[in-house]
Amino acid sequence: MQFTYVNPTQINFGQGQIESIKSVIPQNSKVIVIYGGGSIKRNGVYDQVQSALEGYQWIEFSGVEPNPTKETLDKAVALVKEQDVDFILAVGGGSVIDGSKYVAAAAHYDGDGWDIMVGKHQVTSAVPVGAILTLPATGSESNMGAVITKAETHDKLPFMTPHVQPKFAVMDPDVMKTLPERQLINGVVDAWVHVCEQYLTVTHGAMVQDGYAEALLKNLKSLGEQFDQRDSDAWRANLMWNANQALNGLIGSGVQHDWATHMIGHEFTALWAVDHARSLAIVQPSLLRNQFAVKKEKLEQMGKNVFGLADSDTLAEQTIQAIEAFYHSLGVATQFDGYEGTKDQAVESVINQLEQHGMVALGEHQAITLEQSRQILDLAITA
Ligand code: NZQ
Ligand code: ZN
Repeated sequence: MQFTYVNPTQINFGQGQIESIKSVIPQNSKVIVIYGGGSIKRNGVYDQVQSALEGYQWIEFSGVEPNPTKETLDKAVALVKEQDVDFILAVGGGSVIDGSKYVAAAAHYDGDGWDIMVGKHQVTSAVPVGAILTLPATGSESNMGAVITKAETHDKLPFMTPHVQPKFAVMDPDVMKTLPERQLINGVVDAWVHVCEQYLTVTHGAMVQDGYAEALLKNLKSLGEQFDQRDSDAWRANLMWNANQALNGLIGSGVQHDWATHMIGHEFTALWAVDHARSLAIVQPSLLRNQFAVKKEKLEQMGKNVFGLADSDTLAEQTIQAIEAFYHSLGVATQFDGYEGTKDQAVESVINQLEQHGMVALGEHQAITLEQSRQILDLAITA
């Protein structure tokens, strides 16, 4: 274990916390409020933001779509530059927060913001960002990552820089009351896979990271099993905090990461607009089977410690089946059939995307080449 760890995002958690933004956004800031398709207008969040921002000079930008696009966000970049905005307040789910991170970095750059996504421009500064989270899933509210889509070319790419990590994250579980069931389920699944990407790798004996990852997985499993209690304050608060902890950097410190499920899943979203979480459930079981030999020990550990399975020769495979059963219990599919044309064409289109994006050596051993991805897709896409 060798690592540097800091998570500088101040978390203001709990009911009624939206008004606390006035104590964390510097006075005299010119603020831009960035939001999505309008859910915040319908559930009272916008009104709370408006009243908390009384006395600030502020403007707004709406219309950030799920899987936010460069095309839309560039309009916000222009606005931030034009209006000399010096604080970005993202109010929404992962898409709005990710989009705001892109805007923050691109506004401090003279060229095309997409240069950031393809590594042509290294971010050295950004407009400060704060977040009011309305959908617990991605962990974007307190991490330094963002995933942006170029609609024109169907490219969905991640970038990471500490400059865009939110200064604060307001997490009021009450805002989840208007979330459709589908999005609540997406939150459970996305957070689950985030833990797996940092845990289901090799045996390294890092007790804190493994133990905490297992605690989060057990919690998420319980929240899934108690889905009928989703209207309770406790259920909401627990999902919100679990999803945050799943991807705030802690369990990933000093251990190997995988992220192949995410990279392949992103292509399903880019090609067929599959919800992010659902793309992961499609890819992960097949990927675990493909990488069975190298992940066997960790699968066995997860089987015992998360699912309470007994030791046996088939424990690792039983663990994969338990993961699938968990997704199915939430009504989430683990195979994809939403393509047009033939299965071979569908597999090939994902492979082409992966190749174009340089995703040719994925996973904790960089062992998932295009050939391995093809085998994974062959299992994950139905005939
Ligand atoms: O746009 P609005 O009107 O707000 O509606 C949204 C959207 O339609 C709605 N919604 C959000 N909060 C709501 C609500 N509806 C009612 N009540 C509320 N309180 O939910 C829909 C989906 O929102 P979105 O932000 O797209 O979902 P999510 O949080 O799952 O974010 C997904 C995006 O995050 C990226 C994904 O790739 C995807 O683009 N990710 C970001 C990560 C990161 N930054 O660390 C990691 C993740 O692995 C992921 O890749
Ligand atoms: Zn994710």
